[in-house]
Amino acid sequence: AKDPLRVLVTGAAGQIGYALVPMIARGVMLGPDQPVILHMLDIPPAAEALNGVKMELVDAAFPLLKGVVASTDAVEACTGVNVAVMVGGFPRKEGMERKDVMSKNVSIYKSQASALEKHAAKDCKVLVVANPANTNALILKEFAPSIPEKNITCLTRLDHNRALGQISERLSVQVSDVKNVIIWGNHSSTQYPDVNHATVKTEGGEKPVRELVKDDEWLNSEFITTVQQRGAAIIKARKLSSALSAASSACDHIRDWVCGTSEGSWVSMGVYSDGSYNVPAGLIYSFPVTCRNGEWTIVQGLNIDDFSRKKLDLTAQELTEEKTLAYSCLS
Ligand code: NAI
Repeated sequence: AKDPLRVLVTGAAGQIGYALVPMIARGVMLGPDQPVILHMLDIPPAAEALNGVKMELVDAAFPLLKGVVASTDAVEACTGVNVAVMVGGFPRKEGMERKDVMSKNVSIYKSQASALEKHAAKDCKVLVVANPANTNALILKEFAPSIPEKNITCLTRLDHNRALGQISERLSVQVSDVKNVIIWGNHSSTQYPDVNHATVKTEGGEKPVRELVKDDEWLNSEFITTVQQRGAAIIKARKLSSALSAASSACDHIRDWVCGTSEGSWVSMGVYSDGSYNVPAGLIYSFPVTCRNGEWTIVQGLNIDDFSRKKLDLTAQELTEEKTLAYSCLS
């Protein structure tokens, strides 16, 4: 039998946390033969709720779950973790300035980075979910210099999966037959959901999404805005964030990263830019990636048309501004 892996979930008493921890304990994230020990971190006002989640994890009697650490102490929660899913953060409240929200999150991610740096497993894989996800991940990277930069990522897989879902609904095909959409850039409304390389498996072989949809007008406008604004649409409908799909996508992100993507297909991940596709190096930016042996690689050589180029640049511009704002909160 495999040794258990330790998985940290911060913000574990929140909406996404509540959907995510049972998925991890059932093997959705790391596979059905991988035992896990869950480390859950939240802040003192949520300590009682966090303990309630721990009680439910015990009650659910998950065979793969070999232990639960529920803590409000970052050092205790980060110790020995192999995977860290960072869901905790400071939400934007009505009337708050962008800068104030950024400043709160910068200080949270700075201190949690230090705790991971000192106490997590050396090869710990980090996924930041909490918004602003890309910039929180960048701050985490800056303050955890001993964690390889390739190990620090943010979640855009939810946006990727939303794009697959929209194409599947539009064409009335199975979502599992659609592949190779791309989310470029920021996990925000400037992200660019790109279908120019996406295909659908049909009886007559793989066909480009553009050829099947036959409606460039829809693909270039409504499709893009629907994916960009899906989070807000869910909040409007549920009065709560998209916790179920965020949790499921976080599992997809880690599973593909650890276990590999399937031959001929890629996924979207927010990763540290090396300048590929003329995206400024040093941003955490969502790219198409393939994964093998626990490492991601940016898919190279895709053709970027003028329409796409503008959109890649726009979302990079926003991330550059966020980075500047985040750094101004540090000084
Ligand atoms: P929530 O408010 O229900 O839960 C957040 C939890 O984080 C709370 O339990 C809170 O006490 C905790 N928390 C706050 N500060 C903390 C700290 N310093 N350390 C540890 N825990 C802390 O929010 P929800 O709906 O679970 O969303 C969590 C985050 O995920 C939000 O930032 C949201 O914007 C983001 N999100 C990101 C998505 C993505 O695709 N990247 C999709 C959906 C949400």
